[in-house]
Amino acid sequence: FVVSVNKPIAPIQPTMWGVFFEDINFGADGGIYAELVKNRSFEFTKPLMGWKVDQQPVEEGSVLIQNRGVAHTANPRFARVTVNNRKRGSLSITNEGFRGMGIKKGLRYDFSTLYRSVSGKVKLYVELLNANKEVIGTTELRPSETKTWLKLKADFTSSATEEKGSMRLVFEGNGIIDLDMISLFPGDTWKNRPGGMRADMVQMLADMKPGFIRFPGGCIVEGYDLAQRYQWKKTVGPLEERQLIINRWNTEFAHRPAPDYFQTFGLGFFEYFQLCADIGAEPLPILNCGMACQFNSGEVVPLDQIQPYIDDALDLIEFANGAITTKWGKLRAQMGHPEPFHLKMLGVGNENWGPQYLERFKVFQKALKEKHPEIKLIASSGTDPVGERFNLLNTELRALDTDFIDEHYYRPPQFFFSNINRYDNYPRNGSKVFAGEYASHVPNTNGAVKSNWLAALSEAAFLTGLERNAEVVQMASYAPLFAHYDGWQWAPDLIWMNNLKIVGSPSYHVQKLYSVNKGTTVIPIQRDNKIIDGKDSLYATAAIDAESKEIIVKIVNAQPHEQKICLNFEGIKKLGGTAVHTVLQNDNLDKINTIAEPDAVAPKTKNIKVSGKKQPIAVKGYSFNVIRIKYS
Ligand code: AHR
Repeated sequence: FVVSVNKPIAPIQPTMWGVFFEDINFGADGGIYAELVKNRSFEFTKPLMGWKVDQQPVEEGSVLIQNRGVAHTANPRFARVTVNNRKRGSLSITNEGFRGMGIKKGLRYDFSTLYRSVSGKVKLYVELLNANKEVIGTTELRPSETKTWLKLKADFTSSATEEKGSMRLVFEGNGIIDLDMISLFPGDTWKNRPGGMRADMVQMLADMKPGFIRFPGGCIVEGYDLAQRYQWKKTVGPLEERQLIINRWNTEFAHRPAPDYFQTFGLGFFEYFQLCADIGAEPLPILNCGMACQFNSGEVVPLDQIQPYIDDALDLIEFANGAITTKWGKLRAQMGHPEPFHLKMLGVGNENWGPQYLERFKVFQKALKEKHPEIKLIASSGTDPVGERFNLLNTELRALDTDFIDEHYYRPPQFFFSNINRYDNYPRNGSKVFAGEYASHVPNTNGAVKSNWLAALSEAAFLTGLERNAEVVQMASYAPLFAHYDGWQWAPDLIWMNNLKIVGSPSYHVQKLYSVNKGTTVIPIQRDNKIIDGKDSLYATAAIDAESKEIIVKIVNAQPHEQKICLNFEGIKKLGGTAVHTVLQNDNLDKINTIAEPDAVAPKTKNIKVSGKKQPIAVKGYSFNVIRIKYS
């Protein structure tokens, strides 16, 4: 293979490899948002969903849900607890968590609730329970008398580890107390932020060094109808004023519906921006364009009523970047981030198409470019990467000089192996490509949890084609990102978790290897003056990292047996002594990573000696190889 170091093809954008975040598969609620209490404010369709009331005998008291209606539209319900106790333990409510609560031995837990006293005196015991309902942590609270809502807090330590824990509140005394926003967080959240995110999940993202985070989805942006679309303004400000909605993946439209799946927006737009800032990723919000999910409802907002949608986009730019003297910039500052979030890109719609989309996109484009020419706009091009509809839409979006076109493909491995050249003939000028959602779906797995090595290997091969075409493809993200083993609706997924542990799929390692070995400039790697795009089942791409003075070669061997390759480097004085060869490999294409065997397919690294200008490399059967070599 001839690697021409002195013939740069195109810069690789810092945004090249990113992540796609959606609250699907319990990605946010029940996932990265570390709240352990499900339905903390009794706003799910069934107000006591997730809660169990224990009351023996019945005269000991009652738990009733009250509804303030329009007096408090964002969070109308609360629990009114009447206690006529003779002894502790006769009236309690237990929250089951999101498929249980993950509890860790020796860890601090932060309990809080809003409350007001109606009459008499009531004492509360907070108890963490293991799967056998034994107490593994407890604290006691004596609320002071108050007629206005106050926050009551306590922390305590767990004495045991439990994957399927729950939390019981036991009431004692004689009186009436109102409770709302009943909450429990682990003490080990990301950056130890109270009410924050699950640190192990954020760490998996940080380890990928993503160039951007696309949020908040996916189909949840669209909603299954417009009333249930994602509205960012309802996700910022005080938690108890963030109005929850049913999650689009709750419904019959999901592959595996979860009737208890709601979006509480504890993880809202402020937190997404903060996450991006924390891990050095560019924020890439996607907003509803006035169209609900076309697969489900086809509902659109009439063009003469689209202004509120445009205003949402303009106000979002102000929220992210505006001075703290502006309305939305001030809210950002009040929430704890006076500095701007440096928003540079915004997506208009997700998987929308047809003349209705073009009409609406044009209105957005005009309004946004007039006021914010500095913001790059991403247009959606649907989910059909080979059909006529796709080509037509792409052509029309190009004619509008759209900054980015967001292409999605969920296809079998063969699609990925055979579409390496997909972008070779895309125009180099004009609109750039955002490969915003893709994943290789192995057929005949009946929706089983298959993020297997075959899928990942085919993605690794396909991504050589994206990197080679970095001039055109400037952003790419696998989807979906997270999935809870006991709460998923869609598979395969990049990262799997239960309530305590987390597993990167083979595809995760492919994404991470591309991202952390991104380089700054694409250079040619060729055999017989041709790109290496599948002949002998070999796929390759090469780049240099101008800062570290390294050549980065990526090679996929999709054959079962080892192949020997000689890398001939042109345009250098010499190779620099040692190189690092990272290999992701498994002989079994059906292999998956699991909680029991998380590293079945995981990268292994070795140092190799290099000198002169030639380097022999053996690439194992079914392997993805990244070779980093210093040069001068
Ligand atoms: O990634 C899962 C879903 O696939 C996304 O929500 C949607 O955009 C696509 O259809």
